[in-house]
Order: sequence, then C-alpha cells, then structure tokens
Amino acid sequence: MSHPDSRIVDVILAARQVLSNRAVIQDAVGVEASLVLELPIPEPTGTFKPSRLPVTAFISQALENGVPETQPLRDAFAKAVPVLPWKYNYEPRADLPDLGLRMAWAEIIGPEAPYVSNQFCFGFTLIAPESLYPAHFHPATELYYVLSGTAQWVLSGTKTRYQSGSFILHPSNAVHAMQTSDEPLLAMYTWSGEDVVTLSKYA
Ligand SMILES: [Fe+2]
Repeated sequence: MSHPDSRIVDVILAARQVLSNRAVIQDAVGVEASLVLELPIPEPTGTFKPSRLPVTAFISQALENGVPETQPLRDAFAKAVPVLPWKYNYEPRADLPDLGLRMAWAEIIGPEAPYVSNQFCFGFTLIAPESLYPAHFHPATELYYVLSGTAQWVLSGTKTRYQSGSFILHPSNAVHAMQTSDEPLLAMYTWSGEDVVTLSKYA
C-alpha cells in the first residue's frame, strides 16, 4: 500500500467537514450528506497519476472566486491540485466536439479512483466559462457542493442559478445539466447508491 499523500488526506477531511456541517439540517440534502459520511473511506491502494487538461487552466481563476464559507475546502483543494488525476471520459459528440476541452473531473474515491470504493465516489468537477455540460444521467445519487462560480443548473427541466456555497442533489437517473456564464465552475461531488459503477450518459 502506498503512503497516503497528506494533501489528499486533507482535502478528504475538508470535504467531510462540509458534509458534516450540512448534515445538521436533515432535509434531503442533509440525509444524503449523512449517508455519504457513514460509508467507509477505503485505503489508497491505487496510484495518483496527476494530469492536466485544457480546462485545468481555469483552476486559478476558480480559486479566486467563491464565498468565504467555501474557503477551507478551496484552500485544501488548492494544495491538492498538483496531485489530482483530471479526466474526461465521455464518448465524443459530433454536435459538441470541444466538450473535452471545457470540462473535467478529478476523482479521489470511486471504482476507478486511487481510493478504490464500489460504495461511493468523491471528487471535483471543473467547467470552463461559457460552457454547457449537456443533459446527462446516471444511476448514482449525486450531491454537489459549489466551491466557486455561479452557474445555471437544470434538474428534470427546472432551471436554477446556484452560487458558491450551494448544495445540489441529483436523484438517481434524474436528467441534469449545467451552463456556466463568465466564471468557471468548481464543485465537489459525491455519488452514492446501489450503482456507482455505471458511468454517466448523455441524455
Ligand atoms: Fe451528474
């Protein structure tokens, strides 16, 4: 087993603190936060293969934005950036050929992540300014926490603008999308439920 990188340990702890704070309110978001917190954190048996993608050029801009309450997790994220394994793994789309240039995610815990778990996923999503993350769905229940960037979110056809500090819950197989404006969007996400292995598909 490789020795855990303290930068990754710290970002996991900072994320857990965010979930703990939110779990005090036991509405649908708080119940999901509690559920994720109860799942065991696996040992880091995989290797972190740090990577850069075109969209990661927006990380520094994303870290400059955001409300004060997201600062602790933004700080922990900033220190972890050099070791984060960014990826984009959707099938190509002929109608939106540059999607892979505009978004990426760095998964820390999950079936294919360095911390291997088939019970839940944890990572960060980054979307460039003026970009659409098109409608998509997946069996896992998804909880987002926006670190930086005000964007329009669409869930089952309902549009809502969410700013830094917001939580957004996407139920299993609900179709959702995000549209950024002049700021990049940086968000933490978790996946939980019966099936966190099946990847997201465009709707
Ligand atoms: Fe999603």
